[in-house]
Amino acid sequence: MSFAGVFSLDTVTLVLLCALTVLIIAYFRNGFKSHAELNFPPGPTPLPIIGNLHLLGLKNSHVTLMELSEKYGPIFTIKLGMTRAVVLAGYETVKDALINHPDQFAGRAYTPIFDDLTQRSGIAFSNGESWRQMRRFTMSTLRGFGMGKKTIEDTIIEEAHYLIKMFESHKGQEFNPTIELSAAVGNIISSIVFGDRFDYDDQAFISLVKIMDENSQLVGSAVLQLYNALPILGFLFRSKKKLWKNQNLIWQFIEDFITKNYQTLDANNPRSFTDAFMLKQQQESGNPNTYFHKKNLVCTVTDLFGAGMETTSTTLRWAMLLMMKYPLIQEKVHDEINMVIGSEQFPRTEDRKNLPYTNAVIHEIQRFADIVPLNVMHSTTEDLNFKGYFFPKGTPVIPLLTSVLYDKTQWKSPNDFNPSNFLDAEGKFVRRDAFIPFSMGPRACAGQSLARMELFLFFTILIQRFRFQVPPNVTNLELTSDVGFNLIPKYQNVCAVHR
Ligand code: HEM
Repeated sequence: MSFAGVFSLDTVTLVLLCALTVLIIAYFRNGFKSHAELNFPPGPTPLPIIGNLHLLGLKNSHVTLMELSEKYGPIFTIKLGMTRAVVLAGYETVKDALINHPDQFAGRAYTPIFDDLTQRSGIAFSNGESWRQMRRFTMSTLRGFGMGKKTIEDTIIEEAHYLIKMFESHKGQEFNPTIELSAAVGNIISSIVFGDRFDYDDQAFISLVKIMDENSQLVGSAVLQLYNALPILGFLFRSKKKLWKNQNLIWQFIEDFITKNYQTLDANNPRSFTDAFMLKQQQESGNPNTYFHKKNLVCTVTDLFGAGMETTSTTLRWAMLLMMKYPLIQEKVHDEINMVIGSEQFPRTEDRKNLPYTNAVIHEIQRFADIVPLNVMHSTTEDLNFKGYFFPKGTPVIPLLTSVLYDKTQWKSPNDFNPSNFLDAEGKFVRRDAFIPFSMGPRACAGQSLARMELFLFFTILIQRFRFQVPPNVTNLELTSDVGFNLIPKYQNVCAVHR
C-alpha cells in the first residue's frame, strides 16, 4: 500500500501542503518583524500569510486605501500577502516622491502576473537600462510619427468619421459603445505602430480588441490580485489560464503583423513604429548586448496597445455617462462648440484654447473618473531614507492617484463632478498641479500627449454631432464602477441622438 493511499492524499492536497509549508517558512523568516522594527511607516496590523488582504477586499481597494490614509496619514505600510508595500497619499507626498526623488522611485514593482506575461521586457513592466532605452526610443519615435502633432491629429479626425457612422447606425436607440470606442482608439495606436487601420468589421481585429478588453479585466480581477500577493498558489487559479490563452493570441496577431511588415521594410521610408524598431535592430545587429531584439519589440507593441487602448476608451465611456447624467453641462459644452466652431467643421486641437468650458469638462471627467486609482505600482531603485523611514531597494510603492485627484486640500469640490474645479471666476480655464491622471515623474504615462489629443478630438466631435441621452428604461443612472486594471463604468448603454 502506498504512502499516499494510507493517508488518502491526492496530488492536489500534497501540492497544497507543500505550498503551505513554504509559506509558513517564508513567514517565519521575516513576517514577525513589526513595521517599526524595520523602520517602515505605521499601518494596519497584518495577519499571518495574507497580510492585509482581508482589509483590502481586493475590490475597490482604492476606497480602503483612502480610508486607511485618514487613519495613518500620508505615508503608511500595507502588507500584500507577505510583501510590505508603502502607500503614498495626497498631492504633497506623491509629488515629493515622484518629482523630488525621481530616480529613486522610478522602479516598477515586481508583480507576478505582469512578470509572467512580459518577463520584464517592453516598457511598462521593465526596469533598469532596458526600460530606459525602450522608453526613450518609443517616445522619440512616437513623436517622429506624429504623437502630439498634426499628422496624428488628421488620423484621429479621420477615425472620428468612421466612429460617427457607427454611432449613427444605431439611429438614437440604446447601444453599448464599448467595442466601437476601443476599436477607434485601437486604430489610432495601430496607425502609429503598424502604419494602418482596420475596418470595424475586420473579425481578426475586433477579436483582438475583445480579448485585450477581457485581459484588462482579468489582470485586475480579485483572483489574480490574490495570485500577485501569493504567487505560490498560482496553480489554483483558472483565470490565469484564460489570461495566457488570450495573451498568446495577442502575441500571434502582433508577430504576424511584424513578419508582414518585415517583408516590405524599406530603410529609406519607415512607415511605422514597428519599421523604425526593426531598422534600429538591424543597425545594432553587431551588438550582442543590444536591447533592440524581437522580444522587446513584441512586448513594447503589446504595451502600447495594452496601456493605450482600454484607458482612453474607458475615459470616453465615462465622458458619455457623465454627459447623460449632467445634461445641462452637456448642453453648455455643445453651445460653446457651436458658438466657436459651428456645426459643420470638425474641431482641431488649436481650438482648445478657445473652448475653456469644454476643456474644463474634459479635465473634470478625467479627474472624477480616476480610471487608474492605484497607479501602476512603483518600486525603489536603491536603499532610501524618505520622510524619516528607511526603504530598502526594491520596496513596492503605491503612489495613490485617487488621493491626489480627490485631495481635499487641492480641489474646490473634490467629491462632486464640477467643471469649476478647472475654471476661475471669469470662466477661464485654470491648470491644476494636482491633475495627475497620467501620474508624474520619469514613469509618467508615455502616451499622455496622444491620449490628451484623442480625448479632446473624439469628445468634441461626438458632442458636436450627438446628444447623449439616458436610455428610456433607466430611471436613475448610477455612476458606480467595476474594477479591472482600470475603473470601468458598471452601467454601459447610451443613446446617441443625432442633433
Ligand atoms: C486616458 C488615457 C490614459 C491614462 C489615464 C493613462 C495613465 C497611465 C498611468 C497612470 C500610468 C502609470 C504611470 C506611473 O507608473 O507612474 C501609465 C503608464 C503608461 N502609459 Fe498611459 N495612460 C493613458 C493612455 C495611454 C496611451 C494612449 C498610451 C500609448 C499609446 C499609453 C502608454 C503608456 C505606457 C507605455 C506606460 C508605461 C510607462 C513606463 O512604465 O515608463 N498610455 N499610463
